[in-house]
Amino acid sequence: MTTAELAIPSKTASPGEALLRRAGVAWFLVAAAGQGAFIWMIIAHYGRRTMAGDLAGWNDKPIIKGYVSADDLGNLMFAVHVLLAAVVTLGGLLQLVPAIRRKLPALHRWNGRLFFIIAYVMALGGFWLTWVRPTYLSLISAVSVSLNGVLILVFAGLAWRFAVTRKFEAHRRWAMRAFMVVNGVWFLRVAIMGWVVVSGGGLGMNRTLSGPADIVLQFGSYLIPLAVLEVYLRAQRSARPIVKRLAAGLVIAMTVVTAVGGVGATLFMWGPYMK
Ligand code: HEM
Repeated sequence: MTTAELAIPSKTASPGEALLRRAGVAWFLVAAAGQGAFIWMIIAHYGRRTMAGDLAGWNDKPIIKGYVSADDLGNLMFAVHVLLAAVVTLGGLLQLVPAIRRKLPALHRWNGRLFFIIAYVMALGGFWLTWVRPTYLSLISAVSVSLNGVLILVFAGLAWRFAVTRKFEAHRRWAMRAFMVVNGVWFLRVAIMGWVVVSGGGLGMNRTLSGPADIVLQFGSYLIPLAVLEVYLRAQRSARPIVKRLAAGLVIAMTVVTAVGGVGATLFMWGPYMK
C-alpha cells in the first residue's frame, strides 16, 4: 500500500492539493487516536482476562454472546476473533504511515501480508460467530455485518492480488478500501456514539439495533467511509482545484464527525474497560 497521499504537502503542490492532503492527514490522525483507544480496550479487557484464564470475565462488558459455559468451540472462536481484532487494527494503521512505507519496505510487505490474512480470519470467523454460534441482535444487523465481511474478503483479495502483480496504483486504491471495511466494526461504534451525542440520546435507535437510525448507521458504517474515500481518490486525480477543495471540505467534515464519535466511544463505550 503506498501512502504518498498521506504525506505532508510538498512546497510545489497546488493550494487545492495541499489542502486535500492536509485534510487526509488530519482524518488519519483523528482515526488513529480513536483506533488506539479501541485497541487499548481490547487488550485491557479481553486480553487481560483471557491471559488470566477468566473467560467468564469477558461478559463484564455488555456483549451479546461472549463466554458461554460448556461452549468450548464458541468461546475459542470468540477469543481468536476479539484478540486478533487488536492486531488487525494496529496492523492497518501501520500500513498507512508514510515513513514506514518509505524507510521500512520489508515491514510494510510483511505487515501487509499479516493484515490480509488476519482480515480473512476475522471475516470468516465473524460469519461463524454470526450464523453458526449464532450471535446477533436482529436479522438486519446480522445481514449488515455479513455484507461488511464479504467486502473485507473481496477488497483484501483484490489489494493483495494487485500488490503481487505489481500494479501498485490499483493496489493502493484497493488497500485503502480494504482498510475502510476492515475498520467497519470500529466505524460502527464511533458512528453509534456520534449519533447518541448529536441526537441527544439515540433518536431512532433501539436495543436490537433495528431502529431506522440503527439501520442507517450499520450499513453506513462502511458504505459512507467507502463513498468518502472514493470522492477523495477521484479528487486526487482531478486537475481542477475546486474539486480538490470541495473534497477536502468533505474530509474535514468527516474528521469532525470521527472526532465527536471517537471521543464519545472512548469516554462512554470503552473507557470503563480501559483500566
Ligand atoms: C476485521 C474486522 C473486525 C473487527 C476488528 C472486529 C472486532 C470485534 C470485536 C472487538 C468484538 C467484541 C465486541 C466488543 O466488545 O465490542 C467483536 C465481536 C463480534 N464480531 Fe467482530 N470484528 C470484525 C469483523 C467481523 C465480521 C465481518 C463479522 C461478521 C460477519 C463479525 C462478527 C462478530 C460477532 C458476531 C461478534 C460477537 C458480538 C457480541 O457478542 O457482541 N465481526 N468483533
